Amino acid sequence: MAVQALGYIGIAASNVDDWSAFATDQLGLQPVDTTTSYRTFRMDDRRQRLIVDQDGSGAERYFGWEVADAASLDALAATLDAAGVAVRHEPATLAGQRFVGGLISFRDPDGNRLEAFHSPMLAEEPFTPTRAISGFRAGALGMGHAVLMVADFDIALAFYQDLLGFRISDFMRNPVKAAFLHVNPRHHSVALFEHPRLGMHHFMMELYSLDDVGQGFDRALGVENRVAVTLGRHHNDYMTSFYMRTPSNFLVEYGWGAREIDVPAHQPEEMTTLASFWGHDGLMRSVAGDHVPPPDHTPPPPPEGRRAPIQVVEGNYHKLSGVCPWWDATVAGR
Ligand SMILES: [Fe+2]
Repeated sequence: MAVQALGYIGIAASNVDDWSAFATDQLGLQPVDTTTSYRTFRMDDRRQRLIVDQDGSGAERYFGWEVADAASLDALAATLDAAGVAVRHEPATLAGQRFVGGLISFRDPDGNRLEAFHSPMLAEEPFTPTRAISGFRAGALGMGHAVLMVADFDIALAFYQDLLGFRISDFMRNPVKAAFLHVNPRHHSVALFEHPRLGMHHFMMELYSLDDVGQGFDRALGVENRVAVTLGRHHNDYMTSFYMRTPSNFLVEYGWGAREIDVPAHQPEEMTTLASFWGHDGLMRSVAGDHVPPPDHTPPPPPEGRRAPIQVVEGNYHKLSGVCPWWDATVAGR
């Protein structure tokens, strides 16, 4: 598999001060480079994960995809080249700015600037969040996921699957054409939605503690118009999350407790609804946007009665005692 993880996201933004305040006070990221035009932020042991760039390398945003080594980067460049995709081998100055060993750039079928790199540099100091959170679940899973709205789903899917090596976690044909794609045990590092409003709907970052997310939600409630989607739990990746408006025209999903998938054994499943187990009020409106009319069919009702066990990492739970016969029967009947 060529691509291994979402290494970083860069955002071109003129309002870098607004972004810095949002990234630190709200998200809890650690600011690193605070020069006027180029702001970088940490969320784990990497030198940087989020870049807010007044210039933006000629793109509205860019996504840094990690590959194993220099040979893998060369192989990816050759694959793209053979498919007729224009690949730029970026100079050492830009690779240095990204804190990676080698860097190429290219565009996906919708014009999104993608970068691929190997050998990311680690920071010498431990990650220090700006506010009191337990930290982000990133590392080898990557910084999170991005949800992209694409003009032609089949073309975009072929690009991410056939050229970059993504695999389908689950997909939807109605009411929208969509796919959630993985490159490691994170349920999805990219999702593609066929949609007339192109661009990024949101990117997601996952925290180690549900309380971090809840306290982030409280903080977001204190800022007018910041919460775009209420707390809820997704029925595909099991993430408990909410969504915030950012200083740009996309959202950030702030979540906890997503499941991992067994990459070699995983079989894609067709989804029949985007409705969450509960909550996430505002999600459909945020996808539709202000200028896109809602679909003319009645959305399916929420999948009432559907639920899944919480997903926890070692050291982040206490197992409860005191089960009763009714619960034992419920578990046995699953
Ligand atoms: Fe998401």
